[in-house]
Amino acid sequence: MADIIDITTDRQQAIDAGCAVLGEGFPIAIPTETVYGLAADATNPAAITRIYETKGRPRFNPLICHMSDLAMAEEHAVFDPVSRALAEAFWPGPLTIVLPLKAESHIHALATAGLDTVGIRVPKGFAGELIRAFGRPLAAPSANTSGKISATSADHVEADLGGRIKLILDAGASAVGVESTIVKVEDGKLRLLRPGGLPASEIERVAGQKLLRSKKASAAIEAPGMLASHYAPGAAVRLDATQIVAGEALIAFGTTKVPGSDDARIVLNLSRDGDLAEAAANLFDYMKKADASGAATIAFSTIPDEGLGEAINDRLRRAAAPRE
Ligand code: TXA
Ligand code: MG
Repeated sequence: MADIIDITTDRQQAIDAGCAVLGEGFPIAIPTETVYGLAADATNPAAITRIYETKGRPRFNPLICHMSDLAMAEEHAVFDPVSRALAEAFWPGPLTIVLPLKAESHIHALATAGLDTVGIRVPKGFAGELIRAFGRPLAAPSANTSGKISATSADHVEADLGGRIKLILDAGASAVGVESTIVKVEDGKLRLLRPGGLPASEIERVAGQKLLRSKKASAAIEAPGMLASHYAPGAAVRLDATQIVAGEALIAFGTTKVPGSDDARIVLNLSRDGDLAEAAANLFDYMKKADASGAATIAFSTIPDEGLGEAINDRLRRAAAPRE
């Protein structure tokens, strides 16, 4: 079983133990402000291979490489002016920028899936400190079995991967609750590759341009599997529910009462106040709770498609997609 170290009681011990396991070439679970990551040395091919084995991810997809700061990122990637402005405005934070990889970078091709670009993110708080202490970038997908719901607490990680990893660093519930927003500049134009924890409108404000959202581009660039079933609970998922069938689980939003909800197996409300940040923070935990209730179907109320709602709705569509 994995050791679990609470970073709030022993931050230095957590950093030392984390660096030791990472240095041996094994992945560890780390807290970030978005979701928990399964992190390994991005320059060590054996360590990256273990991430894929641990997650049961069938293919070698590009992984986000996490850096301690912009200076470390500049050792590995070439920044155009728009990307630099976004990095300066939003790092550390829930934004990943895809950039041309520098020839001298030691990030291994298994982390970039052999692409000549690299997805970089500077996480907030403890994860950034850990990377600074380790001295090398960490490749880290979400710390969950491939295709399943992402982990937003150490308990989630332990329940899913606890038997397969050596160490979980516990910082409590992830503040943002959905993965980072991913963007890429192409020919001076900014493209949204994945909606996430940083609302698109904030990126547009700093970049001074609209984000391009092209299904075709994201299908080509995003890892296989990203567009198909993902974030899948055991139960079926039904979106935009306006009526509950007896025995379904209801995940509601706001104060509108959903007819039939008195006969629901469980009712969870992402945010009674209609606050999308609160809803994002609760999303994956509530999906797991609804699933654990034993309901055959989880019904979701409509979530507004603005701000963080874009990322929430993206995850819900994937959760509802036909399973392979
Ligand atoms: O919030 C997050 O981003 C979390 C936490 C742990 O930081 N990490 C995460 O990582 O979601 P990951 O490795 O699962 O994200 C991988 C996705 C790929 O499926 C792809 O869409 C995109 O990041 N990506 C990574 N490198 C890319 C590249 N070079 N070109 C295009 N997309 C890339
Ligand atoms: Mg994931």
